[in-house]
Amino acid sequence: MRYYVTTPIYYVNARPHLGHAYTTIVNDVLTRFHRLAGYETYFLTGTDEHGDKIVQAAAKAQVTPLNYVDRISALFKAAWPNLSVTNDDFIRTTELRHKEVVARFMDLVNRKGEIYFGEYGGYYCFGCERFYTEKELADGLCPDHLTQPQFISEKNYFFRMGNYQDWLIDYITKNPDLIRPEGYRSEVLGFLREPLEDLCISRPKSRLTWGIDLPFDNNFVTYVWFDALINYISALGWPDGEKYSKFWPVAEHTIAKDILKPHAIFWPTMLKAAGEPVYRHLNVHGYWRIGQSKMSKTVGNVVEALSMAEKYGSDPFRYFLMREMNFGLDSEFSEDRLVERYNADLANDLGNLWQRSVAMIQKFNQGLIPVPPPAADDGEWFLRLDNLKSSYEQAFLNVNPRAALTSVWELISFLNKSIDAEAPWILARDPGKKDRLLTVLARLAQGLSYIGALIWPVMPQTGSDIWSRLGLNAHEMTLDWRPIFSSFDPTLVISPGATFFPRVETETAKTRQPQGSPDGTPAKTPEGLITADLINIEDFQKVKLKLANILTAEKVKGSDKLIKLTCALETDGIPEERTIVAGIGKYYEPDELVGQTVVICANLKPAKLMGLKSQGMILAASSDGRMSLLSPSRPVPLGARIS
Ligand code: MSP
Repeated sequence: MRYYVTTPIYYVNARPHLGHAYTTIVNDVLTRFHRLAGYETYFLTGTDEHGDKIVQAAAKAQVTPLNYVDRISALFKAAWPNLSVTNDDFIRTTELRHKEVVARFMDLVNRKGEIYFGEYGGYYCFGCERFYTEKELADGLCPDHLTQPQFISEKNYFFRMGNYQDWLIDYITKNPDLIRPEGYRSEVLGFLREPLEDLCISRPKSRLTWGIDLPFDNNFVTYVWFDALINYISALGWPDGEKYSKFWPVAEHTIAKDILKPHAIFWPTMLKAAGEPVYRHLNVHGYWRIGQSKMSKTVGNVVEALSMAEKYGSDPFRYFLMREMNFGLDSEFSEDRLVERYNADLANDLGNLWQRSVAMIQKFNQGLIPVPPPAADDGEWFLRLDNLKSSYEQAFLNVNPRAALTSVWELISFLNKSIDAEAPWILARDPGKKDRLLTVLARLAQGLSYIGALIWPVMPQTGSDIWSRLGLNAHEMTLDWRPIFSSFDPTLVISPGATFFPRVETETAKTRQPQGSPDGTPAKTPEGLITADLINIEDFQKVKLKLANILTAEKVKGSDKLIKLTCALETDGIPEERTIVAGIGKYYEPDELVGQTVVICANLKPAKLMGLKSQGMILAASSDGRMSLLSPSRPVPLGARIS
């Protein structure tokens, strides 16, 4: 099972913005979903760096085109990790690996007789970097940019695209899910009702030098689309790369509707002419709009994606984009709407479910991960989870992240309601209801673990966090709930952690959402920003710091970093001995440690290091290759409280 997905390669004449971020995040989400489902995945993004627009932008910035593209491409590359995007490759069309493939591809198509030299006159829009026919113009203007195109007549090379019209109609008809959602497929079939013209694929160097030379005539460079589309295979090492044979057969492209025609018409015919198979799916989404205009760099009104993600966190930002947009249709972006969803779906629904569940597990099960009693009647519960799994999976396979999230939120809301309906605090009063109480608590823990896995593609940090708080290993996340439930360790104490999504209190949110915070007073700054990094005193008190006296110390065999320590500590007057394995071997000799009193975190989950169980962590300060263990500045008894 394999999955290969691509974003458009973005023009480097503008900085990354919300529109780019959306497509890139959708792909990251889809890729993560496929990883969860056990697929081997490959995710490509990159930048499109040739053409008139780039030359113009570089001139405006008073730098060379190369200088310019290096600078902006780096901004794109750096933007994605901040949004938790995990692309496998980042291709630039100015790279040699790409240029070589473009030349080879064109040479092949030319040798097949599918390219010819001819004269052409047409209306050229510099914004779109393409010719328009008179019919395509709206009152003489480019329909996308609303600017007047220039009439240009010149000799150029042409690809015999017209020859492929019947084949393409037939191919799209026989592969009903090639272009999806359906509306875009019909739109493409609509275009194909008009005669398909040949495609001009070159520019004379007298007019444009910033491109890839045609392999058969170096007085010309390639036309941007021919160059750009080939990135999808050049990144895989076409024609003979192993990656190409592995991933091209399962290729999917995700784009917005602005570039439907090149992807749905030019690209399949180019592939056909080169004797290569067509991609599997073209996933087409709508525009994010602000007010009435599409947010694009040419129309202006650019929103810097990162500023919203920085303000609210990458996970909530990704969640909002995925939950709000109906894939295929346009959506309206607004910060108010984002805050509304944050408070309602994340703070109230999910954050609250975690908070309440953990509070009850702590109160009624000593914080231990609850195990359902043997008598639990799980039939309906498991059926619910199976149904969720299939609707979630189906939604993602149909590129509908919104529907996938909706189905997860149904479970969240079911569990929240079940707490109210079952009232564990009442069950706890009656010893005869013990089994029911355990069943309810176990379902909460199980449900949360499954929710953690299912939200992970969209909110990777939160998903992984939920898992580690439940003592599960995030690397073992899967789409199937069964192995998850059986990997629970009933001897582990749940770690409540900090509030997941402290409510955002803005002026508008305050008036719209009058109810109080579900989890106490949220930390907030005078500016009304969320302060996810701040913790309250209760959070701090969860960390049990203690003094410990080092009794013995020895290097761990086979490691130059680890030292095994036996420490004495005291809790409520009761002495205790613990083994702690500390990574301090490069800074301390075992001998100098014995007898020292240090500070340890005593309620850290035990971990295994080089096969040795470590029951705590020693606190140390380190910087620039130096390290110092923390210790009390005056003698105090071992049992002293640290606060
Ligand atoms: N370089 C070409 C693509 C070549 S692909 C072989 C290009 N670049 S672009 O920088 O203009 O990017 C267009 C893409 O950015 C859209 O298809 C979409 O993925 C994304 N978006 C840009 N603005 C957008 C919105 N306002 N809303 C949603 N997505 C948008 O075209």
